[in-house]
Amino acid sequence: MALSNELTRALGIEHPIISAGMGGEAGPALAAAVSNAGALGTMGTIGLPPAKVRESIAACRDLTSRPWGVNVITFDWAPFASEIVTAAIEERVPVITLSFGDPVPALRRCQDAGIPTLVQVQDFPTAKAVLAARPTAIVVQGSEAGGHTGQRSTLSFAAQVLDAADGVPVIVAGGVGNGRGLAAALAMGAAGVVMGTRFKASDEATGSAALKAGIAASDGENTLQGDVFDAPYPINWPAGIVGRALRSSFSEEWTGRETELKARAAAMPPFGLVMELNSNPETQINWAGESAGVVNDVLPAAEIVRRTVVEAEALIARLTAVHA
Ligand SMILES: Cc1cc2nc3c(=O)[nH]c(=O)nc-3n(C[C@H](O)[C@H](O)[C@H](O)COP(=O)(O)O)c2cc1C
Repeated sequence: MALSNELTRALGIEHPIISAGMGGEAGPALAAAVSNAGALGTMGTIGLPPAKVRESIAACRDLTSRPWGVNVITFDWAPFASEIVTAAIEERVPVITLSFGDPVPALRRCQDAGIPTLVQVQDFPTAKAVLAARPTAIVVQGSEAGGHTGQRSTLSFAAQVLDAADGVPVIVAGGVGNGRGLAAALAMGAAGVVMGTRFKASDEATGSAALKAGIAASDGENTLQGDVFDAPYPINWPAGIVGRALRSSFSEEWTGRETELKARAAAMPPFGLVMELNSNPETQINWAGESAGVVNDVLPAAEIVRRTVVEAEALIARLTAVHA
């Protein structure tokens, strides 16, 4: 059975699975491995100067002839966001994904350039504005997700956006770590899934072995959505957007003392405290979502795609058999 649908046809891929463009974790190797396996791999760009983004784009092109994407964080603070969109358009990347803040101006630029664009949203008002602009697909991100998210839970938010989508394909993000999540998304009428945490624990992701092992070891109970993780960074995320990561001795020590932590970070050079935290595996922030509970191993990205598809196909066949 093939899981092809309007999304796979629009993007020129085989499987309705997208690896998240995870800033600092998803480079050309991961994006290309996912795309070579028939899904859509996406590179993260947060904090990268546009020249570096262009280098990553060239590297990804060398590694795959299949479609892949570049993610751009579109909120006011985000460094280089507009220039990265320009670079992605000028380089004619196959797909662009946008997320956070007001993504509509960047969406319009991508649409004017004729580049398929997926827009990830965290709240319903933004979902409505994005749907009105009719992207290639809208990605509904629930707060179970790893990294930065809004406050809506995946299931009810996705159902609401599906009701409002008016023909725009809907993709589910947040809490999907295996074929069960993909089957559930497709069963509710979505066109596919974005998976971040699962692909962070892949051979090709750029994070350290310790970070990947932390996700594989997690039973899903030890994630925390908390301001403590952003306090060391000189970045102001939009209101309501909070990071989710694995709890650690760092989060235990500083939760409730975020103001003090921010003051400490402000007294150091930009990113100084982040670098200090990252130099110790005990305190390094391991951005990850609740789907860590179904991630029990570090695998090649192609194997993640294969297992997810096989498991979803079996579950969907069971659903169909029940109704036959
Ligand atoms: C380590 C990590 C980094 C992320 N970085 C980004 C990013 O740079 N841009 C973005 O749009 N989303 C980012 N996300 C969120 C993903 O786009 C996606 O919504 C999320 O991973 C889905 O939930 P899951 O982690 O349960 O699969 C990140 C997620 C993780 C786990």
